[in-house]
Amino acid sequence: MIHARVAGTGSFLPGNPVTNNDLVARGIDTSDEWVVERTGIHQRHLAAPEVTSSELAYEASLRAIAAAGIEPSDIDLIIVATSTPDYIFPSTAALLQARLGITNGGAAFDLQAVCTGFAYALATAEKFIRSGSHKRALVVGAEVFSRILDWNDRGTCVLFGDGAGAVVLEASDKPGILATALHADGSHNPILSVPGQINRGEVVGDPFLRMDGQAVFKFAVKVLVDVAREVMAEAGVGIGDVDWLIPHQANIRIIQATGKRLGVPVEKVIATVGQHGNTSAASIPLALDLAVRDGRIQRGHRILLEGVGGGFTWGAALLEF
Ligand code: ACO
Repeated sequence: MIHARVAGTGSFLPGNPVTNNDLVARGIDTSDEWVVERTGIHQRHLAAPEVTSSELAYEASLRAIAAAGIEPSDIDLIIVATSTPDYIFPSTAALLQARLGITNGGAAFDLQAVCTGFAYALATAEKFIRSGSHKRALVVGAEVFSRILDWNDRGTCVLFGDGAGAVVLEASDKPGILATALHADGSHNPILSVPGQINRGEVVGDPFLRMDGQAVFKFAVKVLVDVAREVMAEAGVGIGDVDWLIPHQANIRIIQATGKRLGVPVEKVIATVGQHGNTSAASIPLALDLAVRDGRIQRGHRILLEGVGGGFTWGAALLEF
């Protein structure tokens, strides 16, 4: 049986951290106390105007490829989860392939599921690998959300950050990803969206992120609990068998409420939202890579990754590292 196994992880954050007080100094009508109390966010990284998602993806990918001990040319599938692509087309994945100097004609495409993007991309790559059609996938979450924030809307602009995380997923006779689940309910699209488009050279609609924070909060906790239980049931694994929970990093209160309802002790929950803010599709692989590199996550550990985001979309993957 072919399994899909994480061979290496990598991540990248642009520039220096920007603290809540730095935002106040830049004229945002907020306070460190308000942001920390409501969200747990202390700082985030914001990319310089010329830095794109493919550039962040490239840096994270180099680290994941090195950790996997392979060459870029060994990769035959690239999936980039992003809501902030460099261009309308070509895909950020194709641009990443070019940056990495990969000329083997492997597949490359972007995947759009907002903050659930990495969970969707991982589950998609797993299916390619388990089918036998591809051997080594580069799965990336990369975002420059700072570009789609309304910096006059203090209710949203303090929440997000830029960054990228990547994993190399390869065919193996050892497990591997044990179970995945993906869901969407498009009827909830108004509570979190960037409801604009480019039409005949003009922005039509609203080019900035809009959110009903309280509606998102309630929805997020419910589906994160449900989908975690779903993948554990599918894999025949109980919560006590899970070594690490890595939820999408939107808000520390969502993370804590999810962990509590699932009965996961706080020390088994990886939380990076305090340092990174919400980096959308990049948040899960960024948190994964941080915990791998600081030695918390070891080979053989069971990890439950789960995301929720605009759409609404939600999904999870349970894997043996
Ligand atoms: N600084 C200071 N005051 C603020 C700020 C700010 N940055 N933002 C809003 N306020 C004020 C509001 O103006 C309001 O003031 P008023 O009472 O005088 O009108 C007050 O704070 C309360 O505003 P609410 O929006 O009701 O605040 P709430 O307690 O709901 O917290 C928050 C807002 C943090 C966004 C919360 O709803 C939340 O965490 N929601 C989850 C959403 C989330 O994490 N989204 C991330 C994207 S979704 C995803 O990744 C899945």
